[in-house]
Amino acid sequence: MIKSTSAPKPLYRVGRDTFETDTARLQQALRRYEQGKGLIGGDPGRRPPPKHPSPLNQPPAFRLQTSRPAHLQALQNFLVTAPLEIEIGSGRGEFILDWAEQHPRRHFLAFEVKSKLTRRLRKQLQTRGLQNLWVSDDDARYALPRILPPNSVHVFHILFPDPWWKPKHQIRRLFVPPFVEILSILLRPGGILRIATDVPGYAEHMQTMLAAHPGLKPSQPDSIVRFAPATPTSRQVFCNDIHRPYQFIYYSKQPA
Ligand SMILES: C[S@@+](CC[C@H](N)C(=O)[O-])C[C@H]1O[C@@H](n2cnc3c(N)ncnc32)[C@H](O)[C@@H]1O
Repeated sequence: MIKSTSAPKPLYRVGRDTFETDTARLQQALRRYEQGKGLIGGDPGRRPPPKHPSPLNQPPAFRLQTSRPAHLQALQNFLVTAPLEIEIGSGRGEFILDWAEQHPRRHFLAFEVKSKLTRRLRKQLQTRGLQNLWVSDDDARYALPRILPPNSVHVFHILFPDPWWKPKHQIRRLFVPPFVEILSILLRPGGILRIATDVPGYAEHMQTMLAAHPGLKPSQPDSIVRFAPATPTSRQVFCNDIHRPYQFIYYSKQPA
């Protein structure tokens, strides 16, 4: 008898096409932003520790709450010794692994809150022998302002960020005013914010927010050429396969 093989589970779903923002509700939630409201995984101090022995407790991976001081010192050295690019929400890591391989003189840091994906990314970077990429399963929103000084990041890549459709969840979006402010502070003058999305409402929302920021300006034509050789992410491949439109948005930090 021939066994029936079921089709592999698709990695992504299209999701909703309605993107809602309830400004009053968002303002209310933002009052508790500094206390960690909306952090993925909740209070980082109460997050279950990675299973022991976890590769996420050793370089080139880290979790701020559980990494030892010497380990964090190694991270600090890594962050300041070459031009730095950061990906937030690296998913399966197709883009960042190839990009790091293509740019051996730059340093890279990938945040992915799903620990399983971060472990997988760590394994792959070691298989490839990459020395210029660190990974973390921290919520980037929590870790970034704690590990980096202002004006230190050359490029942020935020590719197909979760839209968090419902007003109830909008505080979990990366594109809320306090996080856009953090990105703009951490970017060095001339640094690039590279974003992609296939959610038209989210694209519009991000464009409005970025255009209103006095320290940022669009950087479309130059950036399109610079990042043309980048490997597509899983979500991008999914969109290509089903002919779903998506767009890239580029902003750069204005010189002071
Ligand atoms: C829609 S997926 C896109 C993944 C990948 N960039 C791609 O294009 O295929 C968004 C990813 O971001 C991760 N993520 C969401 N919020 C995050 C945060 N605050 N810090 C780190 N990772 C985050 C999610 O776990 C998820 O894997």
